[in-house]
Parts: sequence; C-alpha cells; structure tokens
Amino acid sequence: MAVKITKRIKDIIERDRRIFLTTTREPYPFVADHGEGDYSFDVEGNKFLDFASYISVYNIGINANASVRKAIKAQVDKLMHAAFTDYYSELPVEFGEELIRMFPKGFGKLFLSNSGTEANEAAIKFAQLFTKRTNILAFYGAFHGRTKGALSLTASKSIQRANFGPFSGVVHVPFAYCYRCPFNLSYPGCGFACVDYIKKYPLSKELSPKEVSAFFIEPIQGEGGYIVPPQDYFKEIKKITEDNGMLLVADEVQSGYMRTGKFLALDNFGVTADIYTMAKSLGAGLPIGATIVSKSLGDIPSGSHANTFGGNLVSVAAALASIKFISRNKRRLESEVKRKGRHMLKRLKEMESKYEIVGDARGIGLMQAIEIVRDKKSKIPGVKEREKILEEAFDNGLLLMPAGESSIRIIPPITISDSNMEKGLDILERAVKSANSGKQ
Ligand SMILES: Cc1ncc(COP(=O)(O)O)c(C=O)c1O
Repeated sequence: MAVKITKRIKDIIERDRRIFLTTTREPYPFVADHGEGDYSFDVEGNKFLDFASYISVYNIGINANASVRKAIKAQVDKLMHAAFTDYYSELPVEFGEELIRMFPKGFGKLFLSNSGTEANEAAIKFAQLFTKRTNILAFYGAFHGRTKGALSLTASKSIQRANFGPFSGVVHVPFAYCYRCPFNLSYPGCGFACVDYIKKYPLSKELSPKEVSAFFIEPIQGEGGYIVPPQDYFKEIKKITEDNGMLLVADEVQSGYMRTGKFLALDNFGVTADIYTMAKSLGAGLPIGATIVSKSLGDIPSGSHANTFGGNLVSVAAALASIKFISRNKRRLESEVKRKGRHMLKRLKEMESKYEIVGDARGIGLMQAIEIVRDKKSKIPGVKEREKILEEAFDNGLLLMPAGESSIRIIPPITISDSNMEKGLDILERAVKSANSGKQ
C-alpha cells in the first residue's frame, strides 16, 4: 500500500494550519475519518492498522465497541449534562462504584473531571489539603499535563514549559532511566544510586522532606519515552514517601486501564499509591478524568474543589459501559495482554539485536517502545531515523506515534488480534530495516 496524499487531504491540512494554533502534530498527514476494531481510516478511505490508539485512548478497540456506542446514544436522548458537582445523579455513582472495585482494598473516594491534566490538578490540590504541605517531588522526563499546576510537574521537553513560568513548589529528580543512566551506572550494580541522590541532595539540601506533600510518578514514563524502571524501584520511592509522611501519587493516565495487563500499571511493581489519576481510555473515546484517593485520607471540605462538566452523563455512560466490559472480561484481558506483550517484546528485542539503530526495546504488556539511536555505541538519539520509520510505516498502512526524544511507542488496542499484531510488527520491522540500511 502506498498511501495517496490527495488534494483533499492537503486542503484539509492547509485549512487547519490557517486557523488553529500549532500543537504537536505527527510527521505524517493522517486525516482521521472513521475506525473500528484494530483499524483506522482516513478521509480518502485509506486503511491503517492502528498501533497508536489515538494516544492510548481506545484501549478496548478503535472507536470503542458496540456496547459503549449504544450507551452513549441512549444517554444523549435522555439527559447529557446534570451539573454533577451541584446536583445528584445515579449514573456517575454507578460508574464510581464500578471504578473503585478495580482498585486495591482501602480505595476509596473519587473526583471526576474531563482530562488527564485536570485529574492531576485535583491530585495536587488534594495532596496539599490532606498533608497541609505545599512542595511536590516529580521526575525529570515526567509528563503530567499542560495546565499550570500539572505543567509544573511536567519536565519532559523544555518547549512544553518555555515562557510559561514561574513554576513553584515542584522539585524534579532523576528517574531510573537505565538505558541512559544519569549517573552512568548499571542496574543492579548501581544499588539505586538515583534514589540515594534524591535523599542526599534535593531532600536534604533544597527541601525538608517534611515539607513535601506528594511524590508524583508515572509507573511507566509515557511521553518521556516509555521508560520502564527496574522492578524494585518504586518500592524505594514508596519508602521515601512513607518515611516522611508524603503521599505517593500515581499518574495512570496513559499506563492504566489494562494497558500493561493489569488495571493499574503500578501493580506490576508491587506498590500501592495513596492517590491515582486516570483519563484517556477511561471514557473509551469521550473526555473524562478521575482522581481516586485512598479512604484513609478522608474527605475534602465542601466548596474546596468542583467543576462544571465532571461527571457529564454522556462521558460517564461511555465510561460505565467500558468499565463493565473490562470488568466482565478482566481475567481474559489480563492473560491476553500479558501473552501478546511477551510476544511483542520478543519481536522488538529481536529488532534490537538485528538493527544498529534500535538501541533499546522495552515495555510491559501492550505499552512498549523501541528507542532509535544513530548507532548503539554512541547512543545519540536517532531523531531523523525515527521520523523516517514513522513516515514509512504510515506509507505502508501502520499508525505509530513517537515518545521521548527518539523512541517509538507501540500501543495498539489491547483487544488487537494476534494476526494484526504480527502484521503491524512486520510493517514496523520493514521500516526499521530500511532506516537502518547502510548502518550495519
Ligand atoms: C501520564 C500522563 N498524564 C497526564 C496527561 C495529560 O492528559 P490530558 O492530555 O488528557 O490532559 C497525559 C497525556 O498524554 C499523560 O500521558
């Protein structure tokens, strides 16, 4: 297949550029039209296997599934919006009860919003309220959103923060990015030098640990490059929070909702947080965010946090139908995602060993990535090589998205069929091979 970029596609892109402020568009011209299952189609009917899921939003299939769409349609005819932070209504209650059932014992209470960034804004405020402390720790490489509070936590790319300061109250610390260890050490010989650093420097020279309200983490760093820390890493981070009365806040906006084969990605590391945030796939295509807090933290005072559209009935109808699907199929999805993830990682690791430009392959479940480098020895980020791979894959009918400086994330719907996964991995490998030509 060579995707034809027609006059119509070019015109839509041109009209878009004329009126919309620039965002973060991909290097290839995908103009979405419709989608179903493992596939997305553009306005000219070009068909793409979707390994991006519209940035991890369609975990249960492109355009969700029939049960979600039916629930949305029915709710539209009944009542769309019910001012849920002012009045009561049953649907959000039912959804909240279902959602909490997916959480560890002791959870909890929740707040509904419209996006990942808002879920994190709420988490910042709740952590400050619960601890009566103001400072926050977050990681370099983190992406928690783009509104001002969440952006203070974000430290993924400097362009995302440039000119938007001042930021206050957040101290960033190095993440366990072992492929590019900031301390030039290797795990496990390093003895978690990166964790010692947090204790020895930021938490003794810059901040008193007793003044820190929360430590924000992504179980797998997402926009930062799909970085998976060592298995015991978050136990060390949890210890820092417990020893000092801070709250551990897990941002599961991208990593959660069964993407790693567990409802919460943090469960892969044997650690429970005090507050979780979710969005993206939670609404199966409609906007919804949730901030879920441990019961032990109690409640917040009336009037201290609210919004207009949190608990919007159409979004909640979608989220409820979707979580019912997850809950009904949980066991099957868990084992399927793990099995598919093992196979995908095997294929990506083979690419790592075969091609000079694949520096690292990593991931859990169906949240995986390859990091593209100019060559394995220098590890210089292969930015141009990555672009070439994304473009060639697109041209051959595969949608992929970048992450970090030079990684490619691979996040198909978790319901993808084995044969489509294989087909997509074959297209990816051919694109990698072609970008690699002349290097080996
Ligand atoms: C881990 C994480 N947190 C927060 C956000 C922000 O979510 P939203 O774009 O819905 O505000 C994102 C978005 O990519 C994310 O990946």
